[in-house]
Amino acid sequence: PKALYGAERANSAGVELGSREAVAALQADLAAGARPVAATPLIGGRPAAGQARPVCAPADGTTVVGTVAEADEDGARAAMQAAAEGFRAWDRSDVARRAGALEKAADLLEQRRGLLLALLQAEAGKTIDDAVAELREAVDFCRYYAAQARRIFGAGEVMPGPTGEENRLLHRGRGVFVCISPWNFPLAIFLGQVAAALAAGNSVVAKPAEQTPLIAYEAVKILIEAGVPGSALQYVPGDGRIGAGLVAHPAVAGVAFTGSTETAWAINRALAARNGAIVPLIAETGGINAMIVDATALPEQVADDVVVSAFRSAGQRCSALRLLCVQDDVADKIVTMIKGAAQELKLGDPRDLSVQIGPVIDAEAKAGLEAHIAAMAGTAKIHLATPALDQGSFVGPHILEIGKVGDLTREVFGPVLHVVRWKAGGLDALLDAIAASGYGLTLGVHSRIDTTIETVAERMPAGNVYVNRNMIGAVVGTQPFGGTGLSGTGPKAGGPNYLKRFATEQVVAVNT
Ligand code: NAD
Ligand code: ALA
Repeated sequence: PKALYGAERANSAGVELGSREAVAALQADLAAGARPVAATPLIGGRPAAGQARPVCAPADGTTVVGTVAEADEDGARAAMQAAAEGFRAWDRSDVARRAGALEKAADLLEQRRGLLLALLQAEAGKTIDDAVAELREAVDFCRYYAAQARRIFGAGEVMPGPTGEENRLLHRGRGVFVCISPWNFPLAIFLGQVAAALAAGNSVVAKPAEQTPLIAYEAVKILIEAGVPGSALQYVPGDGRIGAGLVAHPAVAGVAFTGSTETAWAINRALAARNGAIVPLIAETGGINAMIVDATALPEQVADDVVVSAFRSAGQRCSALRLLCVQDDVADKIVTMIKGAAQELKLGDPRDLSVQIGPVIDAEAKAGLEAHIAAMAGTAKIHLATPALDQGSFVGPHILEIGKVGDLTREVFGPVLHVVRWKAGGLDALLDAIAASGYGLTLGVHSRIDTTIETVAERMPAGNVYVNRNMIGAVVGTQPFGGTGLSGTGPKAGGPNYLKRFATEQVVAVNT
């Protein structure tokens, strides 16, 4: 049905990167748009003081992309106070005004693509195709949540009135929503959370990841320019301690968090320890995402889909493939094809548009991945170990074959693919072993047996199951995204149920 899917709006067209003209226009916009950004906290729509530090490009660790003045505890408290004061007016504003501001913001995002794409490349180390896809997703979130807000937050839903009463179910904002986001989608996830919370009538305190504050700052300025009042949207750059302070503030009415499972646990504990109103947490976290390949799969397609799923974005997607489970009979052939394709990928500074794998986010991430690879080297069979580049925080594609599913015990957030073999007749045991991790984000299946596909999708707790295709790049309004268990609470981002979790419900029963 039209209303459910928000079909009255179309997803952003993005950029046709196969077209020479489109790429030339993009390069001109990148050259014209790139500039240093000086971010400060924004409280009540005005710049506030903070401790300034440079933000450097992960591609070389030295190029200064801009500066950020980080909020301290007083700044975080001031932001919560400002948001508490701004809530009522924004919540009482007509939904058409809130939706209109998000739609205007979507237009501005498209118009400012030069600056935003340049920041995604420089600050977050994104390749051009990842940057284009991310901008597109951010635009889609704004337009989709605007459409959904019009559907949900209008005059309300008339309920049955069997005794002659008039019953109406209404949705309203909750109050101050704290939005805490990760660095790996510093525009799309940051903006997706904020747009949803604002669309539902909440005022927002937004804390970006400490690695990527600059693009978030530009996004907040765009929202304010598009008509979101400064009283309804506060921008608070800082690290996890600032996030913890926001969550602990008495004014918090809801938390939207995307990041690691460990941080979600910490936030959950902090919210549970409070006295007073029970505060909902929307948490979207990580996964040990598996792909199951049986002997009927098409090897060429498997190889293509594995390379994209495991190595695109340098493996820095929550959805990325971590564990390839391939039937013994076809394993050697498939691993050889994957290795061959992975060796062809160009690693380097993503400001070079031909680069296919950029850096990991920082030196700490690189060191963590290298430590994992070194620790596995004693027991795993190394099929591919791409050397790092001399400068910047690069980790090349790695393929490590492990003995059993349970040997991979945590999410490894980078371009490291683990392979495990399974034997014909062993599918049930394999599914049990994968499910035993407790994660449930994405799952891939490559098979041409319908019953295998049905069994896997039915039995596994994964939030997003991808059959005979790659496992990344969920599309807003088409493939609502989010996991279960250790991978998150739901509801799915970019889906028709997301905004309702940001709202309270009220029934007004009138005796006519
Ligand atoms: P992270 O948990 O380290 O940090 C995420 C955010 O939480 C940052 O803004 C950080 O400053 C803040 N934070 C840290 N400690 C906090 C605390 N105690 N209280 C409040 N806030 C705190 O995660 P990350 O390294 O930025 O991101 C990578 C992780 O995000 C991966 O696990 C990835 O799978 C996950 N992720 C999930 C999704 C999804 O949709 N499921 C999407 C993207 C990323
Ligand atoms: N939503 C992102 C994807 O599907 C994380 O890859």
